[in-house]
Parts: sequence; C-alpha cells; structure tokens
Amino acid sequence: MVTSGQGIGYTGEDRIEEYISAHIDEESALLRGIYRETNLRLLNPRMASGHIQGRLLKMLVSMIKPKLILEVGTFTGYATLCMAEGLERDGVIHTVEIDDELEDFIRKGFDRSPFGDRIRLHIGDALRIVPKLGLEFDMIFLDGEKRQYPEYYTGLMKYLRPGGYLIADNTLWDGHVVDSGYDSDPQTAAVRRFNDMVKADDRVEVAMIPIRDGLTIVRKKI
Ligand SMILES: C[S@@+](CC[C@H](N)C(=O)[O-])C[C@H]1O[C@@H](n2cnc3c(N)ncnc32)[C@H](O)[C@@H]1O
Repeated sequence: MVTSGQGIGYTGEDRIEEYISAHIDEESALLRGIYRETNLRLLNPRMASGHIQGRLLKMLVSMIKPKLILEVGTFTGYATLCMAEGLERDGVIHTVEIDDELEDFIRKGFDRSPFGDRIRLHIGDALRIVPKLGLEFDMIFLDGEKRQYPEYYTGLMKYLRPGGYLIADNTLWDGHVVDSGYDSDPQTAAVRRFNDMVKADDRVEVAMIPIRDGLTIVRKKI
C-alpha cells in the first residue's frame, strides 16, 4: 500500500511503491477517481489493481496486441479500463463480474471512459458465461475468486488461442504461498494448487513477476 508519509507502518515496500509510482506514467483523472471511489465506498478496496499494476497491464496489452481479451473479475473496472487503454482500435475486452451490485458503479466508469466502446461487461459467473460467448481469446486476465483459480484454469484454458497469454493476478497471495502458517487457509491452498498446475502443464510456458501480490504470465504453446 502506498502511503503519503513516513508514519507508523511505513515500510520499505511502501517506499519502493511510492518511488515506482513517481517514475511511471500517470493514471488518468478518471482512473484516479474510480480508485478513490472504490476506497471510499467498497469493502476490500485493495482488490482494485491500482496505479502501478494498471500501467503494467496497459503496457502488456500494448506488447501482446490482443484483439480479444477476457477478464475474470471486473470489481470496479480499474484493470478493465487500463487494458482497454492499451488495445488497438479494433480490440475488444470482455469482462465478467459475478456481483450484480457492482454493475452501476462499473458502468458509470465505462460510460465516462474514451475507451468504453472497447468493453463488453457480463454479469454472472465467468465459468458459466465464457462457454456461451463462443469466443477464443488472445489474452485472459484471471482475477476472480482465488479459491476457484484451479477451476478457472481447467475450465478456461480451452478458450485461449494457441500462442495466447493468460495473466493471473495474486499468485503469491501476499507471500502466504511460502508461509506454512497459511497451510489450512483455503485461498492460499487454491493459489498454491493453481501455481502447481501451471508448472506441471506441458502445454504452456510460465514466468512470474513479483509485483504487488504476484502476477503469473502463462503462454499457451502453439
Ligand atoms: C480482485 S477483484 C477484481 C479486480 C479487478 N480485476 C481489478 O484489477 O481492478 C475479484 C472480483 O472477482 C469477482 N468474482 C469472483 N468470482 C467470480 C466468478 N466466478 N466470475 C466472475 N467474477 C467473479 C468478485 O466479485 C470480485 O469483484
């Protein structure tokens, strides 16, 4: 978490995040507003990607140049808008959110964005909705319920085209993956299982970035 001063609880990690924030592209006023509103109005605001990860997601999209992206877990739309920003003109991002109470918040942000026409929002369970779309994606951003990560991997990889990328968020789960104190925590167990599944899967290549809560980049071999 980036803090504004060196008060109690201000860690080396906070200072690094602050330094990174000061040396990367700024986020738009719209994104800053969505992040602020997320923090003011919602429980678990930390789920939103935020400035540092948002700029990285935009950059990854600019590098991969996907025509079709799937996002699992929209929350308040912060990451969706960042990825939409990185898309080329004819690119589209399908984003799925299971919590229908978030719909108004999400749509308000998308409607105000110059990139809103590149976004298709679906409300419901990604594991039920994606098979009905009949689409093959160039990139999947996996950021839904951590306990379901193994199911998402099993259920959604068939909708990723060969040569496409799956980017999974929170794969270090605040470091809990290497902390035996969390052995009985179901979210930690599922994230570990997901990481093991990916590592054992010879259909893919895998790399990890220890940014924020950990991002895993999986490439489906051709
Ligand atoms: C970590 S948040 C997503 C944050 C967002 N991607 C971002 O980076 O700003 C996870 C979201 O996934 C949603 N979710 C959980 N299970 C889901 C499912 N099966 N299908 C779609 N969304 C789901 C939750 O309601 C929550 O809003």
